[in-house]
Amino acid sequence: MNKELERVFQQNLDTPEVIIEAMEYSLFAGGKRLRPILMMETCRALEGDIEVIKPLAMGIEMIHTYSLIHDDLPAMDNDDLRRGKPTNHKVYGDAMAILAGDGLLNYAVETMLQGTQGLTGETLLNYLSAMKCIMGASGIRGMIGGQVADMLSEDKVIGLDEMDYIHLHKTAALLEACVLSGCIIAGAEPATQGRLISYSHRIGLAFQIVDDILDIEGDEADLGKPIGSDEKNHKSTFVSLYGLAASKLRVDELETEAIEMLKPIGERTAFLQELASYICRRRK
Ligand code: IPE
Ligand code: IPE
Ligand code: MG
Ligand code: MG
Ligand code: MG
Repeated sequence: MNKELERVFQQNLDTPEVIIEAMEYSLFAGGKRLRPILMMETCRALEGDIEVIKPLAMGIEMIHTYSLIHDDLPAMDNDDLRRGKPTNHKVYGDAMAILAGDGLLNYAVETMLQGTQGLTGETLLNYLSAMKCIMGASGIRGMIGGQVADMLSEDKVIGLDEMDYIHLHKTAALLEACVLSGCIIAGAEPATQGRLISYSHRIGLAFQIVDDILDIEGDEADLGKPIGSDEKNHKSTFVSLYGLAASKLRVDELETEAIEMLKPIGERTAFLQELASYICRRRK
């Protein structure tokens, strides 16, 4: 997918060079590519067409990258390091970083729509329905809604319901859109789809709790982003509310539940089961 992603930036885009440079700076900085991997592996497990889903996978990585550029801005988390490099605004300035984020969002939609070329009938309808779910999950009912709640929670002690809302929206929504897109493109049965959605919620919650744990006890060099960002911004996190030990236990529970959710689907979900463990045990 990286090759295809590079290719969409190699076209003559007829725009000031700095914006392409700023977009590429963050997109090719070395992210884990977890979301496109999750989307394509869900599709593969269900025997869907990987070539059809690839532009959607590229789109979601562009959307995720834009969310990180904006998340790091001085008006949000005000962080200096991302994916092992100075944050976008540190290199290109706030205005260009905002525009690079906007540019990635629009270019994601354009790239995804480009993927409809040559599709017809049910394949086209399924593709558009997956795209609708990606756009919904990254918007105000999904990731943006979660980011808003996260900003509003600064300097406050919040309850578990509010915490779950933040995690399920700012983080799990995109992961849910990944598995749902895989299911839609592959034409999964409702029962299988239901299990995969529950799995995505578990790994989404765990992913953010681990992110919050690593913000305290991670290694900046491994992580490629600063530790202590949440404390600096007086964020309410699962760890600040319940402590490290309880947070780690919760991650273990979520890992077990996520894997159990997939077992009835069978051996073909082996990779997705391993991915749940990776998410829960990662150090970066
Ligand atoms: C970081 O996501 C943002 C969160 C939702 C916590 P990742 O940890 O997947 O970041 P990259 O893509 O690998 O940089
Ligand atoms: C942000 O959560 C998740 C996004 C939607 C970008 P964080 O603010 O905790 O993510 P990091 O730690 O900066 O990657
Ligand atoms: Mg944030
Ligand atoms: Mg942040
Ligand atoms: Mg964090």
